[in-house]
Amino acid sequence: METKIVKIDKINMNKEVISEASQVISEGGLVVFPTETVYGLGANALNGEAVKKIFIAKGRPQDNPLIIHVSDYDIGYLVEEITPIAKKIIEKFWPGPVTIILKKSKIVPCITSAGLATVGIRMPSNIIARKLIEEAKVPIAAPSANISGKPSPTTLDSCVEDLNGRVDFIIGGDISEVGLESTIVDCTVEPPCILRPGGITLEELKKIDPRIYIDPGIMIKVEGDIKPKAPGMKYRHYAPKAPLKIVKGELEEVVLYITECTSLCIERGIKVGIIASDETKGEYTRGIIKSLGKRENLAEISRNLFSVLRCFNNEDVDMILAESFEEEGIGIAIMNRLKKAAGYDIIEL
Ligand code: TXA
Ligand code: MG
Repeated sequence: METKIVKIDKINMNKEVISEASQVISEGGLVVFPTETVYGLGANALNGEAVKKIFIAKGRPQDNPLIIHVSDYDIGYLVEEITPIAKKIIEKFWPGPVTIILKKSKIVPCITSAGLATVGIRMPSNIIARKLIEEAKVPIAAPSANISGKPSPTTLDSCVEDLNGRVDFIIGGDISEVGLESTIVDCTVEPPCILRPGGITLEELKKIDPRIYIDPGIMIKVEGDIKPKAPGMKYRHYAPKAPLKIVKGELEEVVLYITECTSLCIERGIKVGIIASDETKGEYTRGIIKSLGKRENLAEISRNLFSVLRCFNNEDVDMILAESFEEEGIGIAIMNRLKKAAGYDIIEL
């Protein structure tokens, strides 16, 4: 399939591009578009045949439901009921990086919700995304615009790398400013539960309802009875080609460990990549070093994480060692993605 690729900017938004892409959605095609979290691979959420194409283009398992993206606060037709907590989340955080799970209405096809009785909905803050949905006049189902298993795309280039030839249209915008996917909150249970940490933090959500908690199944390896509640969180994900190990401990010790381990590996002919931070990158002298940004600015670390993971696929490395970050605020989401990328291979010092 021939993919049309067009880059536009938010300020001088090119109306013809939005209108052409929205036409593709209306006709049951696939459009990749920017959002503030990561790029999405969209189709008309209410058209089962169109949604099926998303699963094929991504190579996504059929049991993994999609998030529906809206541009209008009136979501009553998509769900059975908007629970009080969902109302509060919508009022405070939409448009923005948070998805709510509610009981779905009959209008939502089974393929969109992967057979579940619930559906995830979010209103992106990215203006290109919202204009596209508005003009298509239908809600848009969109997973992240990557081939299943690879790190989610935060730039046009990453989308092109994964999906050129597999979709009808790719709209390029700026780099996704959050860089990690939306926080998912299950609003069908009491107390409400975070199924995936993301752009809106636990601390921010607790201001709405202090009982909100993070599904214990998602920060640890899937084992025995403890399974994550969001189907997608059980899959190996975000993984670079080379095996990744996280080194956890006091920062000085971590740097020392990575330095020594890198030297030993290189002496044995093993090529090492290092995921560092601005504060530490100068201390490493061997290996291929990439910084995620400043430790004091976790938003920057979050924005750069997926592109750095992807970068290593174009480098000749046999293994990657990553520093770890505080599990606080957006740091919870950063460590959640890093741990999944590492297959929970963590060296605790
Ligand atoms: O920020 C985001 O949410 C991005 C952008 C494109 O909006 N989208 C995204 O979609 O990350 P995706 O498909 O890559 O991840 C959706 C996650 C999966 O883990 C899926 O299992 C979970 O949401 N999910 C979707 N619907 C659900 C439901 N009804 N119940 C539980 N989990 C659900
Ligand atoms: Mg994804």
